[in-house]
Amino acid sequence: MRILVLGGGWFLGRAVVSGALERGWEVTTFTRGLSGIPVPGAVAVHGDRERPEDLARLADHGPWDAVIDTSASELSPHVVRSGTRTLEPVVGRYVYVSTVAVYEGWPTEPLNTCSPVWAALTSTRPDTTQPPDSASGINPDYGRRKAGTEHAVTETFGLARTSLLRPGVILGPGEYVGRLPWWLHRTERGGLILAPGDPARRFQAVDVRDVATFALDQVVHVGHQVHNLGTPIGRETMGGFLQACMDVTGSTGELLWVEDEILLRHGLRQWTELPLWWIHPGVSVIDSSSAVAAGFHSRPLAETVTDTWHWLSQGNTPVPHRRRAKHGITPAKEQAILDSVH
Ligand SMILES: NC(=O)c1ccc[n+]([C@@H]2O[C@H](COP(=O)([O-])OP(=O)(O)OC[C@H]3O[C@@H](n4cnc5c(N)ncnc54)[C@H](OP(=O)(O)O)[C@@H]3O)[C@@H](O)[C@H]2O)c1
Repeated sequence: MRILVLGGGWFLGRAVVSGALERGWEVTTFTRGLSGIPVPGAVAVHGDRERPEDLARLADHGPWDAVIDTSASELSPHVVRSGTRTLEPVVGRYVYVSTVAVYEGWPTEPLNTCSPVWAALTSTRPDTTQPPDSASGINPDYGRRKAGTEHAVTETFGLARTSLLRPGVILGPGEYVGRLPWWLHRTERGGLILAPGDPARRFQAVDVRDVATFALDQVVHVGHQVHNLGTPIGRETMGGFLQACMDVTGSTGELLWVEDEILLRHGLRQWTELPLWWIHPGVSVIDSSSAVAAGFHSRPLAETVTDTWHWLSQGNTPVPHRRRAKHGITPAKEQAILDSVH
């Protein structure tokens, strides 16, 4: 099998490349060469998806049985369409890693693959620098743009040659945003630890390696595939997540659970200031049953936490990324909230 991975330098793309090489497949990666490190064993082609001449040069390295697209999180639909048109003659199947944010109901309603998707933003580049609403953490622009990129893929390749994969939040070794790494470092530091909301709240992150394995399996599927990717609804909880962080770091600290209303009164930004704390009722109610029927397996969250800690403990650090700076509460603010309730 010969595949092209758009991305491949970090996190999901890197996991896809490693998995493909383990299967004995030939892999070409395409990145700008700005971030991450090419995986040894893959042919690394450098260029920018926003430059048509770079895409034309990439196409000369084909043909491939499939492309797995992991690098379109910040691209607009017209850039993705330009790439799909250039690659279509030299690629058999397009496996596109999208997001649950394409659903209109995200993150306020339970979702399955029949849920309504945003009407696609198809024209010009949207204002991607516009931050999500700071209180709620919701950014519908992102969902609309990703819906537009899905449309660009299916429009060019046709439904029968496309897989659309819609993961919820992805965690695991190599995570660069700093969500799970932040909690691991915080629990390691110990002391009284501000734990957000209800320990019984559902928690539904998916392991990067499980997304990668499923994306690779999609290469050999036939017909149009659309799947959500998350752990089974209700299997994991916020309490279980933080306890796993405490256990693996050998924390001597103590979790103090503080109600959502109090955190909101203190003006805490959801999703980023206490990473992964999001109170919307649909956040962890993503139905992935179609993926499970197609062979998707999601490992226990405790394994994701443990392996990420081992990855960090080996001296690995997340790739510097501007989104990382937004994550984490200052010790002074955490202490002020703890003082107000303790
Ligand atoms: N992370 C999550 O929690 C999450 C959740 C749901 C869905 N997703 C989706 O999963 C996919 C993978 O996400 P990710 O967070 O692993 O990676 P990402 O940030 O979307 O992609 C980064 C990779 O793409 C390359 N890249 C970026 N812009 C490029 C350009 N213009 N031309 C060529 N290469 C470019 C980067 O390398 P260079 O910088 O060297 O170019 C890097 O290897 C995305 O489509 C994202 O929307 C992610």
